[in-house]
This record gives sequence, C-alpha cells and structure tokens, in this order.
Amino acid sequence: MTTALITGAAGAIGQAIAAALEAAGRHVIRADSHEAPGVRHLDVTDDESCAELVASIDDLSLLVNAAGVMVRRTALDTDVATFQRVLDVNLTGAFRMARAAHPALAKNGGSIVSISSTHAFLAAKGSFAYGVSKAGVSHLTRLLALEWAADNIRVNAVAPTVVPSAMTAGVLADPAYVSRKLAAIPLGAPIAPEHVAAAVAYLASPAAASTTGQILVLDGGESLA
Ligand SMILES: NC(=O)c1ccc[n+]([C@@H]2O[C@H](COP(=O)([O-])OP(=O)(O)OC[C@H]3O[C@@H](n4cnc5c(N)ncnc54)[C@H](O)[C@@H]3O)[C@@H](O)[C@H]2O)c1
Repeated sequence: MTTALITGAAGAIGQAIAAALEAAGRHVIRADSHEAPGVRHLDVTDDESCAELVASIDDLSLLVNAAGVMVRRTALDTDVATFQRVLDVNLTGAFRMARAAHPALAKNGGSIVSISSTHAFLAAKGSFAYGVSKAGVSHLTRLLALEWAADNIRVNAVAPTVVPSAMTAGVLADPAYVSRKLAAIPLGAPIAPEHVAAAVAYLASPAAASTTGQILVLDGGESLA
C-alpha cells in the first residue's frame, strides 16, 4: 500500500483529507505542530523536523501540504516579523516539505497536492500576508510541476474559498461576514472540508495522471463575477 503524508492534519481540512485518502485505500500519516491523537509531531518551519519525518516513512507516494496559519491584518498592520512567520508556515513550509519528499516521490512516481486558497488570486482586503503566501503556494505548484515532471512527480493544488474550520470559526460566527460572503458565492454556501478532500483525492489519483501544475478552484462560483 502506498503512503500519503498530510501536514496540518489536526485541522478540519487535513482530517477530511486523511479520511478520503484512507477510503481510497492509502496508508495515511497525519502530521501537525498541534498535538492530537494519531498525529505525529511536525513543525513545517523547521528543516530538521521536515527531513526527519519524511525519512521515517517507507513508500511515500503523496505529500499533502495542508499546514497553514491565517493572520487577518492589512498590510500596514502587518509587521515584518508577522509577514515572515505567515510565509514561513504557508509557503516556505510547503517548499521545505516538497524538497524533503522529492527523493521518495521520484522513486515512487508520486505527487504533491497543496492547499492554496482563493486568496491567491482574489485580492481580499485584510489578510495581506496570507494572500501573498497563498499566491506563492499557487506559483510554487506550477514551478515544481514544470521542474519535477521529468522526475515523474505531479504537483497540483486546490484553492477553496471559505471552509468551516478553526481558521474561520471567528469570521463564520459574525453574521455580517457570513451574509456578505455568501452573497458573493453564487452557489450560496461555504465549501465543505469533504469537498476539498475529494478534490485532493482526485488530483492524487491515477485518474489525474495527465494533470500537473493545476490549481483546482473550489469557490462555488465566487470568482466568476
Ligand atoms: N478554512 C478555510 O476557509 C480555508 C480556505 C482555503 C484554504 N485553506 C487552507 O487549508 C489548510 C488547512 O486549514 P484549515 O481550514 O483546516 O485550518 P486549521 O487551522 O483547522 O488547520 C491548519 C493546521 O495547520 C497546523 N499548523 C500550523 N502551523 C504549523 C506548523 N508550523 N507545522 C505544522 N502544522 C502547522 C495547525 O496546527 C492546524 O492544525 C491551510 O493551509 C489553510 O490556509 C483554508
């Protein structure tokens, strides 16, 4: 059985992805900086932590980069240390993990799926560092796909709009935010973690063998208008 490693696996999206991949017959290793049952420790901002975890896994054929942090601040309210911290987790963390996983993925004909966001291409006010980091994740995806195609590694991402999770619990408890957000989403609903997981499972599957460097948008039509 081939093994999938999911970062950010203590979170709502990571948990849903783990369940979907297990249902698809993969052996799944869950990793996160937050302690939780069945979750191995990983800090994606630490080179050694990333390298050690990857080295401990036999048969790694899928890396899912779902670790992430959100800071809801404008550019002027974002000090440089905060900006660097958000990029270190969301963008450099995905790069660290991809580099660490490259030898195993090349050996096993594997793939990478990262969780980007609609913030990567919609300029949303008030989450400056997060938006920049997710734009980076989307382009990291395209560039790695191009460079690593010769190694038989596919690299894709999914880009959801708002998904209920710890990251969005605050804004989703605000009726003004919810009515504004749902009015902007033609399908009129947040994105279920299970829908993100299904998209990840598809991109990681042999059915997507021709697909690399793509960002699958799950936004209920938000970006159409
Ligand atoms: N919730 C949304 O609306 C939404 C929308 C688009 C994209 N995303 C992205 O989906 C991914 C999962 O987010 P979620 O909504 O499940 O939020 P979440 O907060 O529930 O999960 C994020 C997880 O990442 C972990 N993490 C943070 N820093 C880490 C580090 N240094 N090392 C290892 N793990 C670390 C956290 O402990 C947490 O368990 C994130 O990349 C997020 O940016 C979320």
